[in-house]
Amino acid sequence: MSASTPAPSTTPGPSLDPVNVLKAFASLRRLLGTYPSGHPMIAQKLHELDELVRLHLRRGPALEIDVIDGDVRLDGVSFGGDRQANAQAVRELSDLGIDSIHIREGVEIEELRATAEFLWQFKDTASGDSLESQLARRGVHHISLARLVRLDTRWRSHQWPDAPTGPLDPAYAESLALAEQTFDTVASGRKLDAMTVRGLVELLIYRVARSNAALGQILAVKQYENLTYCHSVNVSMLSLLIGKQIGLDDGAIASLVEAALLHDIGKTKIPLDVVKKPGALEKRERKMMEAHTTFGAEILVQTEGLRPMTPIVALEHHRSVKGTGYPDLGDAIPHIMSQIVSVADIYEAITGARTYQAPTLPERACLVLARLAGEKLNSAIVKAFVNAITFFPLGSMVRTTLDEVAVVVGINPCDPLHPQLALVDEAGTGPGTRIDSSARDASGAYLRHIVETVLPQGNSPDMTSFFAAAPA
Ligand SMILES: [Fe+2]
Repeated sequence: MSASTPAPSTTPGPSLDPVNVLKAFASLRRLLGTYPSGHPMIAQKLHELDELVRLHLRRGPALEIDVIDGDVRLDGVSFGGDRQANAQAVRELSDLGIDSIHIREGVEIEELRATAEFLWQFKDTASGDSLESQLARRGVHHISLARLVRLDTRWRSHQWPDAPTGPLDPAYAESLALAEQTFDTVASGRKLDAMTVRGLVELLIYRVARSNAALGQILAVKQYENLTYCHSVNVSMLSLLIGKQIGLDDGAIASLVEAALLHDIGKTKIPLDVVKKPGALEKRERKMMEAHTTFGAEILVQTEGLRPMTPIVALEHHRSVKGTGYPDLGDAIPHIMSQIVSVADIYEAITGARTYQAPTLPERACLVLARLAGEKLNSAIVKAFVNAITFFPLGSMVRTTLDEVAVVVGINPCDPLHPQLALVDEAGTGPGTRIDSSARDASGAYLRHIVETVLPQGNSPDMTSFFAAAPA
């Protein structure tokens, strides 16, 4: 995966921007409708599209492109490209009624051609035949096309709690309470207190980051839709893990944790119904949300006693390594601290629950980051992050090839895909027997592998008891 590529963000080469795939599909579709099938321009465009798709699939088992209100999303994450420049290709497919293209591993070049041909002949009429069966008749089994229709989806919305539930690590609980107070202070129009922020940063660095139970609660999937203060505490801890992994010194770590903690402080100035609105935002609401970066920087420059990086990260954390994103700052590339917070921010957001979406499992979230590496995120930072947390982070519940269900209670640094586990019994409680999943038999073969992460059914197991019983 790309995270193993040490290339800096500015490495030239084929672009992984998903819009290029849409553009190639749109122009192949037009060529197939204009020229005879053997025309060299068709072969060349098909080859181009095939290369682009393969490049994406090298980074994950599926390439999922969705267009929501003109915003191109790759694996559910907004790509934040230049909307104006993307408009033509996006509109061409949207006008057909197609705004979702998902391509899976194993796709053949002929399936790409057949899909483009289908798109040329496609009429968005209400035939009883599904798109899937129409494509299957043309031999297309690895590509799905769909229309994302604005439906009234309230019926399937799920009310998640606003913050973690169940027993929390005491230091983590204390940091959440302090962060909530701090954010409430700013939301009510009072001044941010730099001394409180300093105290909270120390709590995070010296107590929360040293507790495996707290890290387990932050890293594993989060079955709650967290409010800004809670997201911010989690992002600051994830940023700290990256900072340690890339060897930042103590002073830089403190700067990073403070900046990450306050990166979204500007959201306290946005109406809560916009911040919490499920689904796509209207243009006006989106502009308002985007302003949280400049609002945040404003609040932070006016607060005496904060570290100098803090307002910069608030301003830049939605900008990509290619200089795109918001706010518009020309070609300026974000500071490395902002780039770290961007990685932590995306992982935290997608591994948490959202009104219409269950949380993304950590191994899938790592693949999403890998896909964004080099285009939106800094590849070296994504690599450092994935190395630090691994595919099966502390606190994850996993299933093994022996059909055991267990919680990850320790990482084996030399063998990160085979961590230390504590079994969960049939009643969903534990900790049960502790297992080193890197153990091998006499022939050198592993006794078990991890098959997948599983979502806890009902209440999550009590992490504090798992880590109290098995300090790593
Ligand atoms: Fe943000």
